[in-house]
Amino acid sequence: MKLYINKCRQFLIRSASMLLLVFAIVLISCERDEIAIVDPILIDNDCDTLNVSYSITVKSLLDDCISCHNNSSMYGGVNLEDFDNIKSNKVKISNRILSRSHHFTGSDCERIKIQAWINQGSQNN
Ligand code: HEC
Repeated sequence: MKLYINKCRQFLIRSASMLLLVFAIVLISCERDEIAIVDPILIDNDCDTLNVSYSITVKSLLDDCISCHNNSSMYGGVNLEDFDNIKSNKVKISNRILSRSHHFTGSDCERIKIQAWINQGSQNN
């Protein structure tokens, strides 16, 4: 009887360690996934980035952001409600939009267009 209990205990300990191991492996691979999507390269050869305008393109793409970045709830200290605020936060906007790590639901071409508008001097055009 005693031998049986010992074997049973050994079995339980082994199963528990196996479970822990599997759990650890799953955790590690989840973390790897996250690292992999942080720094993509945006390439879209058909994307037209000539003369991207603030009023026609950029403003409407950044309208999605206003629910969290407005005059009263400036999450992360960032207000994206009007041109002046958008222009003064352009480097941070660029980081968030190019890295795909934030709430931007547009296409790669739309990301590239926002970046092009910034590179073209972020004008109120
Ligand atoms: C659902 C709410 C929500 C939406 C929508 C949202 N954000 Fe944010 N944003 C946050 C929060 C919360 C933070 C602060 C925490 C952080 O830095 O992630 C933040 C931080 C930021 C920052 C500050 C980063 C820094 O370096 O200090 C920028 C820039 C930014 N968001 C840009 C954007 C843009 C551009 C959009 C639209 C495409 C957007 N956000 C949409 C919630 C939101």
